[in-house]
Amino acid sequence: MLQRWPLLLGLIAGLGAIYLGLETGSGEADAWGRAARWTARIGLPIFLLTYAASALGRIWPGEITRTIWRNRRWWGLGFAACHTVHLYALIKALEASGEVRTIGSLIPGGIAYLLIFLMALTSSDAAMRVLGKNWKRLHTFGIHYVWFIFTAAYAGRLMTAKTRPEAIYGVSLCLLALAIRIAAWRKTRRS
Ligand code: HEM
Repeated sequence: MLQRWPLLLGLIAGLGAIYLGLETGSGEADAWGRAARWTARIGLPIFLLTYAASALGRIWPGEITRTIWRNRRWWGLGFAACHTVHLYALIKALEASGEVRTIGSLIPGGIAYLLIFLMALTSSDAAMRVLGKNWKRLHTFGIHYVWFIFTAAYAGRLMTAKTRPEAIYGVSLCLLALAIRIAAWRKTRRS
């Protein structure tokens, strides 16, 4: 039961971000816009912990990193919960702003959501047994795809002065997590 707390943390973080957005926004569109941004912002470190969990454990073996590694399924589910809250917030944000999105602009994020839900639904030993090699394919592709969407979303905000601080936050965390994975991969190859 204790190992499940990252799932609860993800849900509370997402709902907390919505609450803060709604409390501080001026007007409905601004409030839901904040909620959409902040739910993504708080979900990123939870996602990156899942993304880099095994790499952290291999580079810095220790009690904390081993616990994160062992519980990475629950960190992944925590991220899925938090990002489901992002989905709710962004639907409300789009509704409130009246902004119309083209189908094309929804495809990359839509695929990410499909992968997040498929990974969450198959986060069990039983699903691993049933899917065999396809389980690894789904989870390896899925986690890298979600990493790419986060990186691209933040990189796209680098060019605008107003959004540059959060873009630097997002891009640097994403690149740091990638660097940790590459370092772990090189360490494993050497040994
Ligand atoms: C079809 C699916 C999606 C739609 C329509 C969507 C829409 C939105 C909207 C409306 C915002 C607020 C934009 C603003 O006010 O500047 C936002 C922010 C954001 N979204 Fe999503 N999103 C989707 C999926 C995703 C996914 C799957 C990810 C990551 C894997 C993601 C990551 C982000 C990030 C990083 C931000 C900016 C957060 C910040 O300001 O710190 N989004 N999204």
